[in-house]
Parts: sequence; C-alpha cells; structure tokens
Amino acid sequence: MAIHFLQPLKIPCSVSGLSRVDVNDLFIFLIIATLTIGCTKEDGPAVSTSLKDKALFGIGAAVSVAHLKEVDFSDAFKNSFNQVSAEYEMKMAHLWTALGTYNWTSADYIVNYAAQNNMKVHGHTLLWYQSFPTWFKNAAYDSLNFENNVKAYILAVVSRYTGRIVSWDVANEIFADNGTLRNDGIVYKTFKDPVAFYGRCFKYARNADPNVKLFYNDYDMVLNSAKRNSVKEMVARFKRVGYPIDGLGEQCHTTIWTDNIQRSSGFTDLAKTGLLMHISELDVRVNQNKSDSYVFTDADQQKQSDTYKSIAAMFESIPQVQKFAITTWGLTDKYTWLTGWWHPKEYPLLFDNNYGKKKAYNGFLEGLN
Ligand code: G3I
Repeated sequence: MAIHFLQPLKIPCSVSGLSRVDVNDLFIFLIIATLTIGCTKEDGPAVSTSLKDKALFGIGAAVSVAHLKEVDFSDAFKNSFNQVSAEYEMKMAHLWTALGTYNWTSADYIVNYAAQNNMKVHGHTLLWYQSFPTWFKNAAYDSLNFENNVKAYILAVVSRYTGRIVSWDVANEIFADNGTLRNDGIVYKTFKDPVAFYGRCFKYARNADPNVKLFYNDYDMVLNSAKRNSVKEMVARFKRVGYPIDGLGEQCHTTIWTDNIQRSSGFTDLAKTGLLMHISELDVRVNQNKSDSYVFTDADQQKQSDTYKSIAAMFESIPQVQKFAITTWGLTDKYTWLTGWWHPKEYPLLFDNNYGKKKAYNGFLEGLN
C-alpha cells in the first residue's frame, strides 16, 4: 500500500519550537502508533493473566482467617479471586457455641475482609450432618424443638449477614453415594421426612433474607447418577411444594485420573434443572496410589492443567445465566485438607507452596471463554 498522502504538516516552527524534520518524524511516529493500537484492538483484548478478570462469573476460593492474615496468601488471593467461601468458620460447629449463643468473630472477619477487597461471600454451610455442635446433639431434641432451634439458628445467621453474604449452602451432603438419604446423620434420626425438613429450612433462610441465593451442595453428583437423580427429584419436589432453591453446588473434589467426559455429561445433566450452578470445592488430586515416594512430574503437572482446563470449559458450556461461580477448595498446596484426608504428598490447587502460579492456573485460564 503506497503512502502518498503523507504530506508534511505545515505547523509554524516558531509555535512548536520543533524543526521541520522533527515535525515529519513526529507525524510518522503518530501514524505508526495509531496503526499499532488499531491492530491490537482488532486482534481482541490482550489475554488477561488473572482468573477473576477473565471469567464472566465468580472465581472463589475457600479460606480461613489465619491464612487471610498471611500477607503472601492475602496478596495471591486478592490478585486472582473475587469471591470467598469460609473453609470451616461459618459452619454450625464453629458459630453455634450454645443455645442462643454465637461466636461471630471469624465469620465477621471474613465478611469484612471481602467487603474491603470488593469480593462476594458465599456462605458455607447452614446445615451439614458433620457440623452439628456436640451440645446440640447431646440435647437429643424431639423433632419440634430440633426444628424450632435450627429455625432460630438460620434466622440469626442469615439475617446477620443480609446484603453481605450473597448466597448460602443451606444444606450439604444429605444423600449417600447410592442415592438414598444419608442415614448416619442426626436429621435422618429425628425426622420421618428429612427432605421436607430441609425444604422448610430453605424457606426459613428465604424468610431471613429475601434476596440471598439458596444452594444445595454435594459431591460426586456429576459422576454418580444415583445421587444425581435423587438431587434432581428433590429439586423437582421443592419446586412443586414451593420451597425456594436457586442453585446447586457440585463440590468437584476430583483427580487427574477421573473421566473428563463422564464428569462433563453428568454436569450437563445436572444443569438441566435450570438452576444456578456452582463448582463449589474444586481441587484436583495427583497422587493416585497415595505413594510416599510420589513425584509431581511435568507430565502430571500437565495432566492437572488439562483437568482444570476441561472443568473450566465444562462450566462454560452451560447457559451464561446459570454460571454462578467456580470456587477452589483452598488457594495453595501449602494449605489443603487433602494432605490430611488423602496423602501428605498432594498438590491439588492452583498455587504452589511459594504462591507461584502452577501450570494448573494457566490451564484454568485457557478453559475460560
Ligand atoms: O485451625 C484450627 C486449629 O487452630 C485448632 O487447633 C484445630 C483443633 O481444633 O482445629 C483447626 O481447625 C480445623 C480446620 O479444619 C483447619 O484444619 C477444624 O477443627 C476442622 O473442623 C476443619 O475441618 C474442615 C472440615 O470441612 C470440617 O468442617 C476442613 O478444613 C474443610 O476442608 C472441610 O471441608 C469439607 C466441606 O465443608 C464439605 N465437603 C467436604 C470438605 C472436605 O471434608
């Protein structure tokens, strides 16, 4: 393309103080600069290096107060995430110290931290069979008193954080892996119709905060069709009876050896409920044989990156209106429940022990639209 239109500008030198030669050079420089910027815009925005900036939905992580108080942890968290879940400090066992008595210290800290850093808070979890306080279990309440006390608890917790906690897991893990109701929990032992009890608890949470999003949370719903069908039946019953439910949280504690296709088809099936979807406790195990001599090889790091990418792409495959958030269950391999529950040699998260971004982080980024 001939550039015959580049006539030198007739700017009186005395005004500009520039020599004629300078003006031409400046003119050519401006042309080139405009062309370069023009080109970049056409090739789409520069690839964002931060998950929170690239994702068109929430990017969360589970944290504890002790870790938030560590500068390196807090910096890495703020730079990549815009949503927070409390790993354990918003559960009954931690909040409900006696009848009518609450320990708000840690939950308040996390909610204030989120407000100061422009983050959303997802409440985890109002009801969980593993988190009823010992004093409550020892009280052996009949169903009426059990429900009245739990109702008062839900009202106290949800109303305290109205407008500051945007969503709650009302109930967590009420189904066993064979799809039947978990029968080792105190709710199962107290109520003839436990699902109806949980449905009423969703209503109590809605009454406490008319705008909060209400979720049911569980693991392996995407891999386990028996459990998934039980959850879908519960959702259908809730809708029929009028118990409010807005979303489903698939925990997604997964591995590099899990079948990505099975996971994706299960997720797509779950999303057919039309509810908001939350990948709520994501981590990706790598040490399949729980080996004491396990080495996190380049090959396994790449498999983990591919797994995070496939999960991000799976999430992106559902309608935008159903995309609530993806939350990792922790931030750094330095602090993960898996070194206790699975094996000390585990590296399931996006940041290494020194808060360096792992291959997994870039895999996650690549999976986002
Ligand atoms: O940090 C305190 C420490 O100061 C104290 O000395 C010690 C002894 O009491 O407790 C420590 O807190 C423990 C915390 O983990 C940190 O290690 C809590 O007691 C313990 O209850 C807590 O366990 C949490 C567990 O849920 C039970 O609430 C795990 O962090 C958390 O990762 C795990 O998360 C669950 C999800 O809620 C539901 N899905 C499965 C997932 C993994 O089990």
